[in-house]
Parts: sequence; C-alpha cells; structure tokens
Amino acid sequence: MLSSVTSNAFKSLQRYYSTTQHIQTVGVIGGGQMGSGIAQVLSQAAKKNVIVVDLNKQVLEKSLAGITSILDKNVAKGKMSDLEKSDILKRLSFSDSLKSLANADFVIEAVIENAEIKCNIFKELDQIVKKEAILATNTSSISITKIAAATKRPQNVIGMHFMNPVPVMKLVEIIPGISTSEETQNITNQLTKDMGKVHTVARDTAGFIANRLLMPYINEACQAVYEGLGTIEDIDTTMKLGCNMPMGPLTLADFIGLDTCLSIMKVLQAELGDKYKPSPLLIRYVEAGKFGKKSNEGFYSYFIPASNTFKGPQ
Ligand SMILES: NC(=O)c1ccc[n+]([C@@H]2O[C@H](COP(=O)([O-])OP(=O)(O)OC[C@H]3O[C@@H](n4cnc5c(N)ncnc54)[C@H](O)[C@@H]3O)[C@@H](O)[C@H]2O)c1
Repeated sequence: MLSSVTSNAFKSLQRYYSTTQHIQTVGVIGGGQMGSGIAQVLSQAAKKNVIVVDLNKQVLEKSLAGITSILDKNVAKGKMSDLEKSDILKRLSFSDSLKSLANADFVIEAVIENAEIKCNIFKELDQIVKKEAILATNTSSISITKIAAATKRPQNVIGMHFMNPVPVMKLVEIIPGISTSEETQNITNQLTKDMGKVHTVARDTAGFIANRLLMPYINEACQAVYEGLGTIEDIDTTMKLGCNMPMGPLTLADFIGLDTCLSIMKVLQAELGDKYKPSPLLIRYVEAGKFGKKSNEGFYSYFIPASNTFKGPQ
C-alpha cells in the first residue's frame, strides 16, 4: 500500500516538475500535412510512441508514405542512419478509430479547422482517453476555452499551435485556455522542448499571435489580386524581393491551405469584427475546391505531369 502511495506521489511530483517521462504514447488526430509532421517529430526528436488517427484510410497511407520518403532523403544525405530511420518508423502506428487512443498519455488534435468538428472530437475523446491524459489542439484560431468546455477535464486541455512544415519550423505557440492548469502548461512546454522546438505563450484570443498578424496580410494579398493591383507573380515577387519575405504571401497561402486561411479569417471576423472580413477571391478559390498545394491547385498549379517536372512558384 505504502509503495503504491509513494509511487503515485512520485508520478504526480514528476508531472509537477514537468518531465515527460510518464508520457510514453502520444495520439495525433488527423493525418494531414500538420498531423503527419507532428507525428514524425514526436517519434524522431521526442522518441515517443505515436498513434496517428484519421477517418480516411488513404490519408493514413499517404501519411506513412510521406514520412518514410522524408526519412529516406535524410538517410541518403547522411543525416541519419538506416537504424535510426527504422526506429522512428517502429514507434509510429496508424488507426482509423479514436478508440485506439485509450492508453495515450497525451493527444494532439490536428483535424480540419472547424470548431464543431473539433468540439465533437474532444467530447468523444474525453470518454475514451484516461482521465489524467492531456488533450492538446493544433487549432490555428479557434478558442481553446471553447474546445476545452466540450470535455469534463478543461484543466487538461491546451492549445499547441505548430507551424508548417512541422519538421522544419522551430516555433510552437502554446495557448492556455481559461481553465488550463499550470501543470498542463508545464508538461506541454517540456514536450515541446523534447520535440526540439521553442515555444511562445499566446493569450486565448482569435488567431493567437501568429495568425492574428499573418492572416490579415495573406487576406490583403488575395484582395490585391481581386482588385487587380498586379499579377499573382508580381504581388509575390514584390513582397519577396522588395520586402525581404522568404516567400510571397500567395505562395504561403497555397502552402497553408486556402480552406484553412478562410476558416481562420472567419474566426477573426466573428471575434474581432469586419476589419478581418475574408476577401471574396479567397472565398471563390475555396468554393472552387482550389485549396492550394494539398489539392494540387490554388494560386499556382502543383500538378506533376508525366515528365515529372515540378510546377509551382519558382
Ligand atoms: N496548414 C497549416 O499551415 C497549419 C499550420 C498550423 C496549424 N494548422 C491547423 O492544423 C489543423 C490541420 O490542418 P492541416 O493543414 O493538416 O489540414 P489537412 O486538411 O491537411 O488535414 C486535416 C485532416 O483531418 C482529417 N479529419 C477530418 N475530420 C476528422 C475526424 N473527425 N477525425 C479524424 N480525422 C479527421 C482529414 O481526413 C484530414 O486528413 C487545422 O486546425 C489547422 O488550422 C494548420
């Protein structure tokens, strides 16, 4: 009896002092561009066992193929050994059911940017995952407090906003909701560090820091195309070569996903007013199913013809 009390006290002390040793299995919900990157880094840098869950089995196959191809390139460049690659892949598993997350110690949700879908997932997850597990969301803009309220453990819910592409980008914005505990925040900070990332802390307001600043810029670039200020290429080149941006705003929008950009603008507009109204052109592109790189077409075309020549922004 004494030893189990001591062991529980030790575990709780461990959590308080924010090690992540007690986190052995991490669930990632959504195997799209963000979920795949998060899963790769959790296995590669933080050495956690990872279960990726997506409704769509083809997405799961694509996710494994995408991660394997990145690791193959790293091996070919001498950045990692074959053994490291196979260890990273061994720690990854894939499932189409949330139930497979029953034993996860930490879960990161990265499904599409839709408040209703995210809240429903958190409600269901809350009944599946053990009660002490932390549930994080990679939302770009939606209230963490609102998502947390869908569960009976709002103290264990937090925002963990990764940047795209996850294996490359250093930053994670951490967003505590109104009810998030200090312990949850400390453990999340530490897991972020274990993943080799640096974090900033943002208040739980629409778009947090990154998208409150970035999305109005991207939206204005869409509006500039709509009003004919210049061609798509001229607008991107002006910002790249004239303002020292690493890539033009329309290229960046294609990489983020125009559907995601529109969803974020709608959240900003709902909370902060019409200054953040989405450009009609952004709406039209999404209506047309032109989501950017992930659908092979957005402001630029990414179709790979038989000759295998990459088409897209140069
Ligand atoms: N794209 C970016 O640059 C970026 C950056 C930071 C954060 N985010 C956020 O990350 C999240 C995911 O974005 P993404 O770009 O990876 O989108 P994506 O469209 O590439 O992937 C979303 C995935 O969610 C899956 N999905 C949808 N409903 C589901 C459900 N009920 N259960 C399980 N899986 C489900 C889809 O099948 C899809 O594979 C969004 O909240 C987005 O705002 C995106």
